[in-house]
Amino acid sequence: MGRPTRWALAATGVTRYSTTFTDLVARGADVDGEARLADAVAPRGARILDAGSGMGRVAAALAARGHQVVAAEPDPTLVEQSLRTYPHLPVVPLDILSLTPEALASRGGPAEFDVIVCVGNVMIYLAEDSEVAVLTRLRELLAPGGRILVGFHLTDGPSTARVYPPDEFVADATAAGLRVDLRAGSYELHPANDEYAVWLLSSTGD
Ligand SMILES: C[S@@+](CC[C@H](N)C(=O)[O-])C[C@H]1O[C@@H](n2cnc3c(N)ncnc32)[C@H](O)[C@@H]1O
Repeated sequence: MGRPTRWALAATGVTRYSTTFTDLVARGADVDGEARLADAVAPRGARILDAGSGMGRVAAALAARGHQVVAAEPDPTLVEQSLRTYPHLPVVPLDILSLTPEALASRGGPAEFDVIVCVGNVMIYLAEDSEVAVLTRLRELLAPGGRILVGFHLTDGPSTARVYPPDEFVADATAAGLRVDLRAGSYELHPANDEYAVWLLSSTGD
């Protein structure tokens, strides 16, 4: 295997994320913002991959909206939390780099997707220097006309995550065969800003 992800190296961040969302879900708080935007750009009954699905909130919200959702999460603690919180939502316990069409098909899921969500700072928690490889793998899993929804902090992100300047992200996406269709500042599509970036990407081959 390659280098560990920044997430795997960030034990305190994992605990904070885990307990934060346990509390929010228990209180009935709105944790569906990313899923609402993904739903808005997806066809009805879409094939959707949640890449780095964490404790499952985005994937579960998309499944509740009638989509065929595959949740993929490599952290065993979060896989366990996801299965406990959303027992109806299966989780593929794999790193994005291991999500081949064969691995997905052998688990009975679709092997290509209309929408891939990679939100909640996944891109800034990847293993060092794996960004282009991860974006390439996600592009390879897109169905024709499919799109990737990405979101991460530009500033004031978690201390254990990297800083990912927008220019560098766009260069990496381009190197991975992707183009930027949209950049916004929030999942409610506020204008682009210096704090948070939401991106819609598609394959340059479409
Ligand atoms: C802050 S959590 C967000 C989880 C979820 N997307 C959400 O928004 O609730 C960051 C996630 O990035 C995931 N991650 C980091 N590198 C990854 C990789 N190479 N493949 C899959 N997931 C990865 C971690 O396992 C973790 O679940």
